[in-house]
Amino acid sequence: MKSEHPFDILIPAPVSVVKQEGAVTLANLKTLHADPEFTGIAEEFVRLAAVFGIRLAVSPDPDADLVLRRNGTLETDEWSIRVEPSAILAESAGRTGMSYAFSAFAQMLFAAEIRGPASAVLPRGTVTDKPRFAWRGFMLDSARHFQTPATVKAVIRLMAHFRLNTFHWHLTDNQGWRIASDAVPPEANAATLTAGQYTKDELRGVAEFAARHGVRIVPEIDIPGHSRGLLKACPQYACDAAAPGGEFCLGNPETIPFLKKVFAELLDIFPDSPVIHMGGDEADTAHWEKCPRCLAAMKAAGCGTMRGLENRFMTEMTRFLIERGRTPMLWGTCSGQTYPPDTIIQSWLDIREPLRVAPNGNKVVYSVHNSLYFDYPENLSEPFETWMFELSEKGVYMTDPHIIWEEKVKDAIIGTEACLWTERVPEWRVMRKILPRLGAYAECAWSLPGKKLWHDFLRRKELLEAAGYYDFLLGNCRERGEE
Ligand code: ACM
Ligand code: ZN
Repeated sequence: MKSEHPFDILIPAPVSVVKQEGAVTLANLKTLHADPEFTGIAEEFVRLAAVFGIRLAVSPDPDADLVLRRNGTLETDEWSIRVEPSAILAESAGRTGMSYAFSAFAQMLFAAEIRGPASAVLPRGTVTDKPRFAWRGFMLDSARHFQTPATVKAVIRLMAHFRLNTFHWHLTDNQGWRIASDAVPPEANAATLTAGQYTKDELRGVAEFAARHGVRIVPEIDIPGHSRGLLKACPQYACDAAAPGGEFCLGNPETIPFLKKVFAELLDIFPDSPVIHMGGDEADTAHWEKCPRCLAAMKAAGCGTMRGLENRFMTEMTRFLIERGRTPMLWGTCSGQTYPPDTIIQSWLDIREPLRVAPNGNKVVYSVHNSLYFDYPENLSEPFETWMFELSEKGVYMTDPHIIWEEKVKDAIIGTEACLWTERVPEWRVMRKILPRLGAYAECAWSLPGKKLWHDFLRRKELLEAAGYYDFLLGNCRERGEE
């Protein structure tokens, strides 16, 4: 028989589950007590319980039916839920851990209620849990197709439900410059697939919302390529102002001061983002090869190739971030460059990239496209492009950031990130492109390899789906994204 035990349906799978005899009847839960720092998340527990008709009154009495308690001996992301006949106790060291306990508790309630509220119980026992990887990311491309702040917040909320913690926000590309900026004219956004820009207040609002949900933001401005819209509006920074293309001119002495102004603004909008992404992918050298200023700069720098000049350029840009206390991040280039060791490399195209950059000291985030690009079709009846692979939920589940590497390469891999590029994904398709594959991905990011078993994952997913959990996520994350 399929196990509906509420500890056995959690996605991502937890580290440890201990089951004991006895149970708490959910209908008997009346009071909730939270340590002061958990007041905000306590409201989430109350709202969630109300979905199932359980009316929880917040109580100053620590002897309540449901207790959210701080336990300073736990690690930052660690959490536990202990169910005793007398009370349910959720513990964590801080708000992040408690938000993970909340997401697990939500799944437990859905499983417990599957046969109806009259018989809904949480069995006695304890779940303790912490993540495998510190970096559990998801990237949303808001440049190709724009999403309203409400949709972006809904995505962040969905991430939080699966205990993901890093929202990489791809804000600029050839097709759109989504930051309403003082440094960049609005015309940079003129060639978009869908209109829209985020005001600084909206960007800050999303950052504040993400912080409340235990998610940090990695904003990205993609340079020196992927900049067609911006260069159309500011052709003076292109190699050929009459035909600006998508790459900044590396030999123009005004390019770097301009870009530093642009990034300074980004740092001001996102003061709490420790990592800033500078792109660095897919710059075409063709303009540079024909540009007298780029050719002169290459010669003066003794670089030998345009890739060498690009490397110098990006190194200088990453120093700008380091001097301001931020960590730079770049897409892996796969064209042989090495970057300063304090730069995080996002490995997306070449599965062997960690082998190349780890000995240089770089940390790596694993985003290999044929396992983790969520724009790729889940089945081939969806719209797709010729460069894409089919990426089923099972295909996502099979990936492992450590692949087959030896220990010293594994140590360089700080985590993983799934990416939703939106060339073919208008706003209304975003949530469905993310679910249900996000659960499979979350298990790759959070759970220990020994806990990963496809058929067991399918069992848990089917139970949660049947219980209405995925429908709840779609509705609830959208509705609450408005806040
Ligand atoms: C990428 O997919 N161009 C990073
Ligand atoms: Zn040039």
